[in-house]
Amino acid sequence: MDAFIGFLQNTQPVVLLSMAVGLLIAGVFVVVFHGRRHLRSNEPPAVPGLPLIGNLLQLKEKKPHQTFAKWAEKYGPIYSIKTGASKLIVLNSTQVAKEAMVAKFSSISTRKLSKALTILTCDKKMVATSDYDDFHKLVKRCIITNLLGAGAQKQLRGHRDVMVSNMIENLETTIKENPSGAVNFRDLFKDELFRLALKEALGQDIESIYVPELGKELTKKDLYNVLVVDPMTGAIEVDWRDFFPYLRWVPNSKWEEKIQRMASNKYVVMKALINEHKRRIQHGEGTNSYLKHLLSLETLTEEHLISLVWEVIIEASDTTAVITEWAMYQLAKNPDRQDRLYDEIKEVCGTEKVTEEHLPQLHYLNCVFHETLRRHSPVPIVPLRFVHEDTQLGGFDIPAEAEIAINLYACNMNKEEWAEPDEWRPERFLEGTHEFSDLYKTMAFGAGKRACAGSIQAMLITCISIARFVQGYGWRLVEGDEDKVDTVQLTAQRLQPLCVYVKPRK
Ligand code: HEM
Repeated sequence: MDAFIGFLQNTQPVVLLSMAVGLLIAGVFVVVFHGRRHLRSNEPPAVPGLPLIGNLLQLKEKKPHQTFAKWAEKYGPIYSIKTGASKLIVLNSTQVAKEAMVAKFSSISTRKLSKALTILTCDKKMVATSDYDDFHKLVKRCIITNLLGAGAQKQLRGHRDVMVSNMIENLETTIKENPSGAVNFRDLFKDELFRLALKEALGQDIESIYVPELGKELTKKDLYNVLVVDPMTGAIEVDWRDFFPYLRWVPNSKWEEKIQRMASNKYVVMKALINEHKRRIQHGEGTNSYLKHLLSLETLTEEHLISLVWEVIIEASDTTAVITEWAMYQLAKNPDRQDRLYDEIKEVCGTEKVTEEHLPQLHYLNCVFHETLRRHSPVPIVPLRFVHEDTQLGGFDIPAEAEIAINLYACNMNKEEWAEPDEWRPERFLEGTHEFSDLYKTMAFGAGKRACAGSIQAMLITCISIARFVQGYGWRLVEGDEDKVDTVQLTAQRLQPLCVYVKPRK
């Protein structure tokens, strides 16, 4: 939205005049078209906005999930807003979100991607961004069978064990070098998680790679920036023309160049990584990797392969880091709860190191995981769904061609469903209302046919990491950090990396 306002301030009067004429003509169409739509009797309540731009100015804070949740208090769990020319139906309770994701899935199964996401995902060529079609079914089966399902995760246990022991080793070194200093948790965790993601996707860790199209050797840090940081930033970059499709002809070249550069860097780096891995396979060195399984499908194009392998890297590297960082923040902030978890680990494991075999007995740890998912849902709003036939939600008529925003943040912070939702209180999951083994106690992993494919991996990595961190060390926040809960725009990532005092337990 800032980009939109900046654009208005910096644009030549003649372009603004032709835009105004365009808006006027489009406005007439919108009013006529809308007038027709409003003949429908039973659509969800609409949040009042301005002509033509609708509710866009009310969203300029860039935390739409929070604004949507506030509106839900006034307009109820389901309402509509206007983002320029599009109508967006916003869902804010578990009940209505589940209805959309499960019961009415057949009418709401396609995606509506922003321009940025369309460019970055090579136009829906990934599991998470594709429409629900034969391609989706094929690649989802492939990712579950070979990488993310329970059986495949068992096979990949070694990668997780190495990840955890590397993190503990690095933590020890950091503490030895500066015993009284604060540790940057994000640096400690993200490097090892990225290493694991590379191993899963490509069968081996990669320190550097020569990329012919860029004419240079990229280090692991460069790889992380090109494959994870830049696309995450790009994915939430708004092209204001998304809201006014009839103004597509107005150039927004700065924005387009930026996203195209990110997409093309990612593309050529992935191509180099895949070619390198193919060479190793030809020399009989191909270890077990997701790429090897994708290659065996034979029907996929280069764009498909690049997008699907990159998908694993970015999905494995991001959300799990976000949730573990929040869990360690909350444990450091709440010493009594940290003690409770430590006591549980002592009772279950005695003097042994915690391993994944202990996880089913660590009930409080499970509560810490789910409460962090609830309070800090890493995916606050599910990528928009598109209604492809008239349907009903929450008793309201939903017209075809509406877009649906499922606000997972609001579902997990809904006062009707969760007592004192602002409080981080893991004990709420011990109150007998939730099954221990249910990974979907909150809406954080979505629901139905498009529910998160990586929930088992996320749970295993997060829980074993938290358990080892708390078993070996006491965690304490740096003074003054108690209220640092701001996030990066519409994501749930902490605005500032967690820096925390870590003391080895005796
Ligand atoms: C705490 C960590 C995670 C959270 C909270 C999370 C959340 C989500 C959510 C809400 C969706 C549903 C999107 C929708 O309904 O449209 C989703 C889908 C997906 N997630 Fe995750 N995710 C996490 C970790 C992972 C990991 C580690 C991976 C893989 C390495 C992964 C892979 C996927 C895939 C492939 C989909 C698409 C499923 C489909 O469209 O059928 N996720 N995730």
